[in-house]
Amino acid sequence: MSATSGSVLEKPRGAVVVRPSTESDVPAMIAIYTHHITRGVGDVVIEPTQADDIKRRRKNMLRRRLPHLAAERDGVIVGYAYAVPFRKRPAYRYAVKHSIYVHPDHVSTGIGRLLLPALIEACAGAGYRQMFAYVDADNVASLSLHEAHGFRRVGLLEGVGFKYGKWADSVLMQRAIGAGASTPPVEIAYSRTT
Ligand SMILES: CC(C)(COP(=O)(O)OP(=O)(O)OC[C@H]1O[C@@H](n2cnc3c(N)ncnc32)[C@H](O)[C@@H]1OP(=O)(O)O)[C@@H](O)C(=O)NCCC(=O)NCCS
Repeated sequence: MSATSGSVLEKPRGAVVVRPSTESDVPAMIAIYTHHITRGVGDVVIEPTQADDIKRRRKNMLRRRLPHLAAERDGVIVGYAYAVPFRKRPAYRYAVKHSIYVHPDHVSTGIGRLLLPALIEACAGAGYRQMFAYVDADNVASLSLHEAHGFRRVGLLEGVGFKYGKWADSVLMQRAIGAGASTPPVEIAYSRTT
């Protein structure tokens, strides 16, 4: 609903800023993640995500020049996105897989559409050449978002998950970034730490 057509009681939503995340964003990111991960599997008891785990992971990613982005609206963290190595072996050091999560109160308001291209650009700028995402086969919003940003469905992982009492499929999505596989890579730092 646009600001002009909305009810007078509805507060107009401010602009969204996408920026590198900071350590002080971690609690908000954990809250977003916990919401989606809990809803994503049904009534399974999930161990709470520890702030220290996210902080350590964030630092490891930044050391490897892997982007970790936050989206902020009116001073609130409304989403985040980050990339990790696709596989640990050195041959795969130019490929990343990513995750993107939007605050439940802000889904379908254009935040994914800002975060994903910013993440693509940051990964390409850091020298990576391929991006991958595993998307639940029934996650229409995520499939559409990725397709709108150049990702193709390259594989189907059948019955790979189990949630709400049912086996669930995942779609493997891929897009080339930067020069993709069309030119040799520019060497990037590789470390085994993730
Ligand atoms: C999937 C997710 C990242 C999309 O981000 P979003 O901010 O909600 O999406 P946006 O409002 O930016 O919309 C981007 C595109 O996604 C699609 N989309 C968004 N919401 C949708 C919905 N409810 N149904 C169908 N498509 C939808 C549309 O193609 C939309 O583009 P358009 O508006 O130009 O048509 C977000 O909904 C989310 O965090 N969901 C829960 C966690 C999750 O599934 N993460 C992804 C794991 S792979």
